[in-house]
Amino acid sequence: MKKIAIYPGSFDPVTNGHLDIIERGLNIFDRIIVTIMRNPSKKTLFTVEERMEMLGNSLAEIPNVEVDVFHGLLVDYAAKRKADAILRGMRAVSDFEYEFQMALMNRKLNRDIQTVFLMTGLRWIFTSSSIIKQAAEFGGDIEDMVSPMVCRKLKEKFGFADPSA
Ligand code: COA
Repeated sequence: MKKIAIYPGSFDPVTNGHLDIIERGLNIFDRIIVTIMRNPSKKTLFTVEERMEMLGNSLAEIPNVEVDVFHGLLVDYAAKRKADAILRGMRAVSDFEYEFQMALMNRKLNRDIQTVFLMTGLRWIFTSSSIIKQAAEFGGDIEDMVSPMVCRKLKEKFGFADPSA
């Protein structure tokens, strides 16, 4: 039986830290469905379509990964896709409380779906989409934290695009 995991998130935008978790996850799962979901407490910079495009481009070289979008409860989506687990990345200790709360709520909503946590690579422990967006907004160098396409999109959003590129 093939093992499937859902990797949910806002991905606003996808970063190398997310890609690191997906690559680690593929050592455990046969297939990972990367799903853009809504976190109601977040206002996003990129539209769902832009986020889908950036995910698709960043994951183009990685086999056994699918990109999807779902508006609703994560556990309902996981059941619908017959997933074996929800995959989440854990960075610093500061992630723990929020992740623990979310995993317990998801378990309460559906006892059959497990959450699996993987440690992010050390390089990405202190990165997040927001901190990368903030650096990009003020013209900071973010090239080694996101894929080339995401880097270009961020520069375009904040008016740092190279017109000759
Ligand atoms: N490396 C670097 N950064 C990472 C990372 C990694 N490995 N993993 C997460 N992050 C960052 C993200 O970039 C994001 O940064 P930001 O806050 O600056 O945007 C932050 O950590 C957490 O983001 P993410 O993992 O994408 O979670 P989220 O809070 O955006 O997403 C949902 C949460 C969408 C999964 C959750 O709200 C959800 O399940 N929604 C659906 C509705 C539902 O079922 N709710 C009930 C659940 S209790």
